[in-house]
Amino acid sequence: MSPRVTDAPSVTVRVPAKINLELIVGPRRPDGYHELSTVFHAVSLFDDVRVTPAADWGVTVEGPFSHLVPTGDDNLAVRAAQLIAASAALTETGTAPGTSPAGPVHVTIRKHIPVAGGMAGGSADAAATLIACDALWGAATDRDTLDDLAQRLGSDVNFALQGGTAIGSGRGERVVPALTRGRYHWVLAMSDIGLSTPDVFHMCDRLRRDRAVPPPQPSPAMMAALRSGDAMALGAALRNDLQSAAMHLHPGVYDTLETGMECGALGGVLSGSGPTVAFLVRDAEQALDLAVALTASGVASDVRRCTGPVHGAHVLPETRV
Ligand code: C5P
Repeated sequence: MSPRVTDAPSVTVRVPAKINLELIVGPRRPDGYHELSTVFHAVSLFDDVRVTPAADWGVTVEGPFSHLVPTGDDNLAVRAAQLIAASAALTETGTAPGTSPAGPVHVTIRKHIPVAGGMAGGSADAAATLIACDALWGAATDRDTLDDLAQRLGSDVNFALQGGTAIGSGRGERVVPALTRGRYHWVLAMSDIGLSTPDVFHMCDRLRRDRAVPPPQPSPAMMAALRSGDAMALGAALRNDLQSAAMHLHPGVYDTLETGMECGALGGVLSGSGPTVAFLVRDAEQALDLAVALTASGVASDVRRCTGPVHGAHVLPETRV
């Protein structure tokens, strides 16, 4: 990407997409969320989020998926900026009233993560905005406060701050790093049919309404695979309890999984609530082969290669020239 020339002070944060290597869905809670045990994995598909002081709050979205992102007050990145502004203004000391630097910003999102694809793109942008505003204002918000703000914005925002490979519990917002080894190659098969996360969870409840749902726990097979760094074992351990529900709502998910496995992937799994499907492959060479095969088969609207794990939201070095 070419460096941006601008006179306004601004901060740009790069944030990764996530896939779920394991997503075990427990019972629906009284608050409507489901208790989860998940393994988040940050992959090298990024959004870049820039914040610039402005007269009013606003957001512009650029890039291939820009037309799909809401740009009103309901945009999660703008909500993130307003939330951390309120927090920074509250905690400021030594600043005269009304002179807090935590004023309105314009958020510009360079979007590469698919929208409504199950890769937490909106949550990633919210996490990036928290980090960008914090840096812009020199607020030095502590980690606990950032985590608190993140969980108020959505279940996947905490992980986007952290990145790597991590175990998520609660509704997904409680995140601890997983013991892992190795770097993995992935091929992502995307669909231009977005799936609504609440709809997929609702369908999951319907499909298992006659069954008792146990409390979710990380599976020993997944934990052992991550510890060993063995891609074959990881491929066999991939699991997502939302997969059947997503297939009911969008049968293309089934075709995509079948095609990828027939073409030799070590494993394939729905990411989050879908419809993106992530395939694990041996190496960069097999990733290219599988990407070509999936593209030729026509099952996916777009196919990307990436690796994981990668770091969570981080400030990019100054790009002004
Ligand atoms: O937290 P977030 O806004 O990302 O969640 C979107 C929706 O997904 C929730 O409103 C809920 O319907 C569903 N969800 C759930 N259980 C979770 C996470 C999300 O039912 N653990």
